[in-house]
Amino acid sequence: MNEIDTTVYKEAFAGFYAEGGAVWDIGKPQAPFLEIADTVQGSILDVGCGTGSVALFFAEKGHAVTGIDLVEKAIERAREKAAGKNLDVTFLVKDAFTLLDSDWRFPSIIDSGLFHVFADDYGGFVKEVEQKRCLYVKALEHVIEPGGTLYLMAAKEKPEGRAALAGYSLDALQNAFAEGWKFESIKEFVAEVTQESAQMYPDADWTTWFAVIKRKGLADGN
Ligand SMILES: C[S@@+](CC[C@H](N)C(=O)[O-])C[C@H]1O[C@@H](n2cnc3c(N)ncnc32)[C@H](O)[C@@H]1O
Repeated sequence: MNEIDTTVYKEAFAGFYAEGGAVWDIGKPQAPFLEIADTVQGSILDVGCGTGSVALFFAEKGHAVTGIDLVEKAIERAREKAAGKNLDVTFLVKDAFTLLDSDWRFPSIIDSGLFHVFADDYGGFVKEVEQKRCLYVKALEHVIEPGGTLYLMAAKEKPEGRAALAGYSLDALQNAFAEGWKFESIKEFVAEVTQESAQMYPDADWTTWFAVIKRKGLADGN
């Protein structure tokens, strides 16, 4: 069993959801997910699913979807939204690092803003953030089927002095998925945030990466 301390994340995100109006919680998937929607195949794991907007969108399109998140409040809301739409989606309170010990396998994985969390040391509170980033990628490798696809959205590193989230440079993103993965596409876009957040942070830079990353298949060897 892998013991990874995620208390800081749990407390921070529980705080965001308790306050309501989390900056990313726009009630629908970010635009790039809509653009690639028809290419997504089979059952989907949405890691760090929050209140379930992306998971529910794909469930409505007929996919079997499992959404996991560290925070109970987020999963409660996701379940309420699924019930309101009469959709059968599995939403679980579950730490992404426990995927390292899981026997789940999915051909498609969505990460809309979780890998992104490991770009930041939360002002020095999160020790060994790089180790967590590597372990998180290992967890994805453990549960993705050979030849499966990861759809990843993560903030882009901002120029010095711009108010924004910590994010990844292109190199950092590519290096994290250098072994046994292949980038099918990667592009920048400006992420949508809630209206209140846009008004509250008018100078923030929400430039974000969207990448489609394929895991090596059995025929590709180890
Ligand atoms: C930026 S939010 C994105 C939420 C959602 N994917 C969306 O697009 O609206 C990141 C999410 O990751 C969750 N999270 C953080 N650490 C996690 C972990 N170790 N395991 C599972 N979820 C985690 C947070 O609770 C939060 O809901």
